[in-house]
Amino acid sequence: MRIAMIGTGYVGLVSGACFADFGHQVTCVDKDAGKIAALRRGEIPIFEPGLEALVAANVTASRLDFTTDLAGPVAEAEAVFIAVGTPSRRGDGHADLSYVYAAAREIAASVRGFTVVVTKSTVPVGTGDEVERLIREANPWADVVVASNPEFLREGAAIRDFKFPDRIVVGTSEERGRKALGDIYRPLSLNQAPLMFTARRTAELIKYAANAFLATKITFINEIADLSEKVGADIQEVARGIGLDNRIGTKFLHAGPGYGGSCFPKDTRALVKIAEDHGAQLRIVESVVTVNDNRKRAMARKVANALGGNLRGKTIAVLGLAFKPDTDDMREAPSIPLITGLCDMGANVRAFDPASMKEARRELPDIDYCDDAYACAEGADALVIVTEWVQFRALDLPRLKRIMKRPIVVDLRNVYRPDEMAELGFVYSSVGRDKT
Ligand code: UDX
Repeated sequence: MRIAMIGTGYVGLVSGACFADFGHQVTCVDKDAGKIAALRRGEIPIFEPGLEALVAANVTASRLDFTTDLAGPVAEAEAVFIAVGTPSRRGDGHADLSYVYAAAREIAASVRGFTVVVTKSTVPVGTGDEVERLIREANPWADVVVASNPEFLREGAAIRDFKFPDRIVVGTSEERGRKALGDIYRPLSLNQAPLMFTARRTAELIKYAANAFLATKITFINEIADLSEKVGADIQEVARGIGLDNRIGTKFLHAGPGYGGSCFPKDTRALVKIAEDHGAQLRIVESVVTVNDNRKRAMARKVANALGGNLRGKTIAVLGLAFKPDTDDMREAPSIPLITGLCDMGANVRAFDPASMKEARRELPDIDYCDDAYACAEGADALVIVTEWVQFRALDLPRLKRIMKRPIVVDLRNVYRPDEMAELGFVYSSVGRDKT
């Protein structure tokens, strides 16, 4: 099938490359001429394992190309995916749909013949209706079906998630839409991925409900971790003990410094607004948003407590800045409020991250950046593990102890075991495993 992918951000680029890999003919469109020029040179603007090779292979096979011209590819396409950004609108937490609607108007002007227009961006319930209205208003002769096909990719594992999804959700009540999306995803039926057809508004809500549920699961275990510290229980074992119940499941029960990233914070806030707009209230999701925001801010205090309360003049080494491993993404990363808080308390902060230091410099310009974990730890009063990159799971602990000024480690991802750290002579604190 011929596909036009509008927007070469995270979702657009990964989806475009994977569709091409399925054998479809894909053109990725973006307004950003610099980005398109870079992609044509084979430079990938985001850090995503495997993506560069996947793009290169499909460009070489002439199944994937990049352009700033929307009209040509849309006219030729049987399916047009809208994968532009839907950031949080400043001030009110609503999703900003201006890019989605602008794309809809441009698509309306260029479609030829029967075309399925698919929203892949995460959009509030009812956006598909508005996209359809805009297209019909701009071009009453357009022969289009507007469908919703939300994306559940995780950064760092996006290609695998795309090729081996738990499910594919397609929202359209029109047979022609179901047929087209069924054809596009047919290669995945070999992996037995269930293709779930539903109504458009239901598909739109599934995306928000899924993200809000996962965010709730994390926030729940984080609160139980705080309680574990009070009662002297071990959160890792509590998580395992409840997760082995199939109804609960072991995933997304890893306690830490609070969730971040480009999806959970934005989508939970947007879901609260969607409910408000419809005269409803989602008290659980509202609490999740507040509890998680407070948690991220509270992490600086946790580090201060590990150092006896006073951070003035102390040097703190921070390992990991990205919101999670295998990405350079700093959006809503727990490291930002943590480091800001440490600096406000008078600490000197140094940091190292294997991928996100360039991004981090924009958010946190006033700290020192180091070349590796050991340079970061040298002479430090405390070491804080904020992102669980694999290389931080196998640090040379005796060496760290030798080079640090004081052997204090605050492990916000529970990478190490309290007993092994105590044996090595560290003053070690983690999440939900130490009696406070
Ligand atoms: C998420 C969803 O998983 C994906 O389905 C959706 O489409 C986009 O949002 P992503 O933001 O890439 O993907 O990251 P994810 O791996 O889900 O982690 C999000 C945040 O939660 C990270 O900050 C991570 O550290 C945190 N997290 C995750 C925990 O603190 N504990 C966990 O058990 C899992």
